Amino acid sequence: MSNKVGILTGGGDCPGLNAVIRAVVRKSIEPYKYEVVGFIGGWRGVLDMEFEMLTRDSITGIVHRGGTIIKTSRTNPLKIENGIEQIIENYHKIGLKALIAIGGEDTLGVAKALNEKGLNMIGVPKTIDNDLSGTDYTFGYDTAVNIAMDAIDRVHTTAESHNRVMVVEVMGRHTGWIALAAGIAGGADVILIPERPFEIDKVCQSLKQRHKRGRDFSIVVVAEGAKFKVGPAKEEKLILQDQKLDEFGHVRLGGIGNLLAQAIEEITGFESRVVILGHIQRGGAPTAFDRVLATRFGIKAIDMVHNGEFGKMAALKGTEIISIPLSEAVDKVKLVSEDLIKTAEVFFG
Ligand code: F6P
Repeated sequence: MSNKVGILTGGGDCPGLNAVIRAVVRKSIEPYKYEVVGFIGGWRGVLDMEFEMLTRDSITGIVHRGGTIIKTSRTNPLKIENGIEQIIENYHKIGLKALIAIGGEDTLGVAKALNEKGLNMIGVPKTIDNDLSGTDYTFGYDTAVNIAMDAIDRVHTTAESHNRVMVVEVMGRHTGWIALAAGIAGGADVILIPERPFEIDKVCQSLKQRHKRGRDFSIVVVAEGAKFKVGPAKEEKLILQDQKLDEFGHVRLGGIGNLLAQAIEEITGFESRVVILGHIQRGGAPTAFDRVLATRFGIKAIDMVHNGEFGKMAALKGTEIISIPLSEAVDKVKLVSEDLIKTAEVFFG
């Protein structure tokens, strides 16, 4: 019976990945006595047989570090000719007992496909976007929200001093989780999210109303995936950095903040500036919440390996860490709740 467990981190990096790896390795060593094979660069490492054995030495002093000690990539084996077959062959060549994939919808989608082909797959949910179904939170999200909130706080004092509109663009490809939480916490006056395509005139009306009431500065938080409604047909428009697609078919978003600030200045006459947070939200040390959540996910994942709970993902439900089918996590995006939108709206305008 094999005692080798593989682990990989795929997709965009995220604060807390190292805490998951550390937890998996620690409990593998004791009590389970498994060896941990760390694949380098996500699925690319499995395809190219690039890996290193993770020992206690490899994982000391990493719980507080952002990024991932085993690197990551957006390599998609489903898009590579014979990619899945190659992974299955390498899995057996190494003699793995199971493979733990830490990732978002893309990485876990591949894990699900491999599980259907008979490999023993376990998933751990990761994304700063918090848009994976089946889990209340993904680790990395809390850190990103705190970074964005801190940025909004800083922008607040300069907006107030100059009587300006400050537009803060945050990440969030399909959903507005980061924008809403950071916006509520930072006291934003307008929050624009992918779930609610917006009309620029209405945004400007709301800012004008606020300024009429005697406030002469405003904070607008916008998720990179928010959509402008344009033209008489109110067509929804996404703002792209360029036309390139990654291997999972995703466009590169970003830049909506610039357009928004420009339009607000033109329509309202209020001087406007933009701050695009970008990858700052994904870098650096995880918050305590994310370190603990990531650690609990790692422990659960290795327990699931031990109990033979394959084809499943560790998930947070309330205060409990449970396991759910991978399909539940990847089949649909988790949109922000109506309740959170309604809470934010109380403070608009
Ligand atoms: O999926 C997480 C995320 O940070 C998104 O919010 C963002 O759109 C994307 O990754 C950026 O990806 P990359 O780091 O490949 O540019």
